[in-house]
Amino acid sequence: MQTKIEKIDSSSALAVKIIGVVESHELDFLSFRERLSFANISHPEKKKEWATARIAIHDALEALQVPYPGFFKDEHGKSHAMNGQGYVSLTHTPGFAGAIFHREQPVGIDMDLVREKILKIGFRFLDSSELDFLEKDPAHYTMAWSAKESIFKCQGRKGVSFRDNILLDPFDVNTTRIKGRIRGTEFADHHYTVEVRQLENVILTYTIW
Ligand SMILES: CC(C)(COP(=O)(O)OP(=O)(O)OC[C@H]1O[C@@H](n2cnc3c(N)ncnc32)[C@H](O)[C@@H]1OP(=O)(O)O)[C@@H](O)C(=O)NCCC(=O)NCCS
Repeated sequence: MQTKIEKIDSSSALAVKIIGVVESHELDFLSFRERLSFANISHPEKKKEWATARIAIHDALEALQVPYPGFFKDEHGKSHAMNGQGYVSLTHTPGFAGAIFHREQPVGIDMDLVREKILKIGFRFLDSSELDFLEKDPAHYTMAWSAKESIFKCQGRKGVSFRDNILLDPFDVNTTRIKGRIRGTEFADHHYTVEVRQLENVILTYTIW
């Protein structure tokens, strides 16, 4: 299975993998608890996505020479290292799964396939100021959506609205960096910088707190 690993700096790395058949021996590193979670996924495609994201985080950790700690999910759905050391975020979209790890700072990662239909649902996740600067271009909208997903996952708590609580500064469709902030919640006033990559027809974004 092909992997793209990016060592961001000495504290963080991300990995993106093409989703394919996962042999059971490729998952030998999983903790007991993770094996149970995996066994409880019945949908074959979901199983592949889940497994590939875990292999991606394993690969990212290997790039940093960090032993795989095993991860558990909190009540919001966010994953945490079992040994309490470091921060992780996971994502999957048709065809790809990805993961990011940072030794000291919370992180968020997201991947989304660029689809025409996103233009129709902009009003659900975009503020009017964002609708003003975004071109009617599915890639531009997907960048905004994915940046908000990465910010959402970095902060981790449910109840933060993409439209009302996450606001992006204007950005160009060719940009590699989007600035955004969370407003109007008890976690307000944190400013995020989101990195953007385009892989074939997929937008990948990530942010480090
Ligand atoms: C939960 C949510 C972050 C998942 O994102 P997604 O794009 O559907 O799916 P992705 O594959 O990119 O990410 C899934 C991963 O996100 C992670 N995740 C789930 N909840 C999370 C949270 N609260 N914080 C951080 N990460 C979370 C999980 O690791 C999950 O992977 P896993 O199931 O293999 O463990 C997203 O669907 C969500 O709920 N967003 C907030 C709701 C919202 O405002 N939506 C927009 C309204 S228009």
